[in-house]
This record gives sequence, structure tokens and C-alpha cells, in this order.
Amino acid sequence: MAKVWHISGLNDYVVIREGKATLKVPNPMKYLRQDNVYEPAWAPVFYNPQQTLNRDLSVVVLATLTKTFTKRSEPLLVADPFSGTGVRAIRYVLEVPSIDEAYANDLDLEAYNLIKENVKLNNLGEKIRVFRLDANAFLYLLKTLRKSFILVDIDPYGTPAPYVDAGIWALRRGGVLCVTATDTATLGGFKFEAGSKRYDVKLSRNDIPNDVGIRILLGFMARRAATRDRYLEPLLAYHEAHYYRVFVRVGKGADKALNMVETQLSYLELCLTCGYRDYVQSLKKEDRCPVCGGKTAVIGPLWRGSLNNVEFLNEVKNTVGAEYQYLSTYKRIVKLLDVATSDLTHLKLYNVQTIARFLKVNIPQLSKIVECLTSKGFKASKTSLCYTCIRTDADWSDLVDCVKGVET
Ligand SMILES: C[S@@+](CC[C@H](N)C(=O)[O-])C[C@H]1O[C@@H](n2cnc3c(N)ncnc32)[C@H](O)[C@@H]1O
Repeated sequence: MAKVWHISGLNDYVVIREGKATLKVPNPMKYLRQDNVYEPAWAPVFYNPQQTLNRDLSVVVLATLTKTFTKRSEPLLVADPFSGTGVRAIRYVLEVPSIDEAYANDLDLEAYNLIKENVKLNNLGEKIRVFRLDANAFLYLLKTLRKSFILVDIDPYGTPAPYVDAGIWALRRGGVLCVTATDTATLGGFKFEAGSKRYDVKLSRNDIPNDVGIRILLGFMARRAATRDRYLEPLLAYHEAHYYRVFVRVGKGADKALNMVETQLSYLELCLTCGYRDYVQSLKKEDRCPVCGGKTAVIGPLWRGSLNNVEFLNEVKNTVGAEYQYLSTYKRIVKLLDVATSDLTHLKLYNVQTIARFLKVNIPQLSKIVECLTSKGFKASKTSLCYTCIRTDADWSDLVDCVKGVET
């Protein structure tokens, strides 16, 4: 969490430190809800101290990424199309010294002026260019000017869907698109009609909403990427408070884009009566469950492959340990990376609560189910995306045996 340096009376703005940046931001004391909690959406320029983890993590992902661009034929550029106070662009340049230039943008006039002030406050006038355009216009303009980025950070209010195309297009080969989505209820299937329309999918209520939400978002991004012969490789995806955040590396190539569509996208058919599920290759009508005869729901297309790249995340861990222990969220980042690297995200996710309810047994300890499955030779893990769920490659009958066998 950012530390407030000084508050004199109830000034409109205060100066704070976040990471290595000094920032003028709206005075949080002026925008308190009735429960005394700061409401960033009420401030004239958006700055949410609760998002420090999101920004810290983005800094360390960028720092790790720069190490893969060892040949410096082109400058290393980053784009921050929804800049607010300028915090991300400023931190990327200050805290990842190999970055040559950042391009910051916000459509709002007050935000635009504040970004310029904050750039000056940090003596970065030479390294940060500031724009006031719609985010899509900004990204396409820079593409036209032949600027291409190793990282584009899409951090809008609500859905990122309208900005995914421009974000992908603005990236350099092997660059990373980071996307924040705060429309979690829509993506996760609670508001399935809105989600189906917004992400061009078939959504419905389900018992693994965070996993589904992230996979619907990645599936959408993959389909948009494929239209331009680009393919995605997820590096990290997580859920925190009110948002999803995904980091994907974007590659170029028609064959690889086609291969991604054929192998990484799928539909998920699931039964909410007994908890059975399987991937299916096409959107079929809701059917009857082969296990219990209950009605099934079909969701997709969604991303069925891994959500995390363990090799890359291990490099991020090394980078954080070596250079970024000063971050206020350092311990949370290490924990998040540890959890992400042990989550076997390429395996199907089952909600044990649904299965236990169907079997009329108590919900067993998840670690005991993981033990039971691994002792039978299957892969299995817990996940931070659902605290009552198990990922496994076990057959349905083996999973059910373990749920029954270890019942507490
Ligand atoms: C969630 S805030 C960004 C917060 C900032 N990235 C941070 O980490 O503090 C979204 C910002 O996008 C700006 N914005 C909204 N719609 C936009 C658009 N179409 N193009 C560019 N900026 C936009 C808003 O003015 C707001 O400052």
C-alpha cells in the first residue's frame, strides 16, 4: 500500500510515494464513503492504492521480460493507454532502467494534466511522452508512427474487450499484453447474458466462476489475436479483490495462430447436479449428464490450456528476490508466485463442494483428495482461483472414489 507523505488540511491533492515514484494524487480523505473507505471512482483522477500489488507485479514482470530482449536493435518501449495519474508509465521507467521510453495516455483532461505534472515531479520529461486520446486511437496512432511496444498495459474501467485488438496490434513480436478486467461477475457467468454478448461466447452460471472468467477472457483475446495471425502464450493469470489480471506473451505467425485456435480453445460442458465435466469441441445444445442424467451447461469458447508459464514465473521470482525486495507488496508477490507455480492450470477443475453435495458426503479436506489422487498416479493440485476445488487428470470414477474415501 502506498504511504501518504503529507496531508495539509484537506487539500485537493496529496503527494505520496509508490515504489520509486513520487506522485501527486487526489486526497483520499476527500472521497470517503459512509463507511470511511476511500472511493477512488469519486476522485477527479483515478488512483487506487489497493491496486499497488497489480502495479508492483507488472513492474517485476516487465523487468523479467526485458531480459529476453537482449539484442537491442530497437529501443525498449512501453505503453500505458489508461494512465490516470501516470503511475504505471512513471514506475516502469523509474524501476526498470533498461526501458528507453514510456507512452502515457488518458482521455480525461484532468488526468492528462496530472500525468504531465507527475512526469515533471519525477524528472522524466525526456523519457515519457503524454497523450490525450481515446485508448484505441492512441495505440493505432503509435502503430502508424512505427512505435512498437514490449509491454502494453490495458487497465480500463470495467471491460477490456474493446481495447484488446489495438493492444495486440501495438505489440512488438514477443511483447506482453497485460489486461485488467473488473467485470468479473460478467466474465464468471453470474451475468451470463451480458458476458455472452460482450465476449462473443456462450456463458452460463457455473461452479468455478473465477477459472471460467479468466479462461473466457483469454479465449476472447486468443480469438482476436488469431484474426491478425498472432498467437498467445499466457504467462500469469490471477484473481484479486475485484479484478482479474492476465499477462500474455504475443507471438506472430499464421500457422501458430491456427494451431493455438485448434488446440488451446474449447468448450466446457458441465453438470451442476453432480459436478461432472468435460471439454467438447463444438457448441452443442445443453444435454443430459452421462453420470447422473442432470441437465448440463455448455460454456465457451474458452482457453483450456495453461494459465501460467512456470519457467517464466521462476525467472520473475529470481528477479524479485534479487532486485525488488523494496516493494511494499514484496511478500504478497512471492506468495502469489509460489501459489501460481504450484497450480496445475492445464488440468480440468472440479468443485468438490458440488461433488460432495451430490454424493451426500461431508466436504473432505482438499489436501487429502490431492494426496489420494497422487497416490493413484494422477496429477492433482489446489488452486487460488477456487478454495473448494481440485484440478486433476484423474477419471471421474477415481476422483469420486477419492472424495468418498477421504471423507472427514
Ligand atoms: C482504472 S483507471 C486507470 C488507473 C491507472 N492505470 C492506475 O493504475 O492507477 C482508468 C483510466 O482510463 C481513463 N479512460 C477511460 N476511458 C478511456 C478511453 N476510452 N481512452 C483513454 N482513457 C480512458 C480514465 O480517465 C481513467 O483515468
